[in-house]
Amino acid sequence: MYELENAAVDPDGVIEAAMAAVRGRAGAHVLDIGCGTGYHLPLFARDARRVTGVEPHAALAAAARARVRGLDNVEVHQGVAQRLPVPDASVEVAHARWAYFFGPGCEPGLAELERVMRRGGVAFVIDNDATRSTFGGWFRRFLPDYDPEAVERFWARQGFHREPLTMRWRFARRADLEAVVRIEFTRAVAEEVIAEHSGLEVDYAVNLWWRAY
Ligand SMILES: C[S@@+](CC[C@H](N)C(=O)[O-])C[C@H]1O[C@@H](n2cnc3c(N)ncnc32)[C@H](O)[C@@H]1O
Repeated sequence: MYELENAAVDPDGVIEAAMAAVRGRAGAHVLDIGCGTGYHLPLFARDARRVTGVEPHAALAAAARARVRGLDNVEVHQGVAQRLPVPDASVEVAHARWAYFFGPGCEPGLAELERVMRRGGVAFVIDNDATRSTFGGWFRRFLPDYDPEAVERFWARQGFHREPLTMRWRFARRADLEAVVRIEFTRAVAEEVIAEHSGLEVDYAVNLWWRAY
């Protein structure tokens, strides 16, 4: 199901273009933290010197390894953001997409980034922007206590810049959109959303947080 969601995310490459405008990956060691099934690893492997995926769940790490079999510049380790299985000052581009770095509480992972990032490197964090867009409205309905301003203050204190982006979900089939909505939200919210939203697309605001080291 998550594969379907990833395939629907950002068909226009808005996130990719925004990251490239800050720091390209050519020749870099790229670290994907919370890489899941490794959806983004082959893309990163195209121009990076080396790509390391880190994922805590054994089954997901195994799926990521299977995905990159044959790509000799990619490795996947089972591990967590709070204890990254990479040496000090070894990473030029870090990427965490909807994984662990959700604002307050992720300080141990940020301390690890301080350790592993090379001078001149950039860390990217991609997460929902609950203040706007159709998806943002659904997200707030799902998590009414979520405080976007507190999250924004947190990232600013940590020295991260905010790049507000609007991308979209684009599905090939309505059944796929509905199935993904059902894994993202509680049953009640999912059914409301499905009843009120027609079509195959959803506008979706995200924040690209980034910091140079
Ligand atoms: C929503 S998925 C996103 C996966 C991937 N980044 C993607 O975009 O396809 C969140 C991922 O974060 C991983 N995760 C959870 N806790 C983590 C931690 N402490 N450190 C690193 N990754 C973590 C989960 O196992 C899961 O694979």
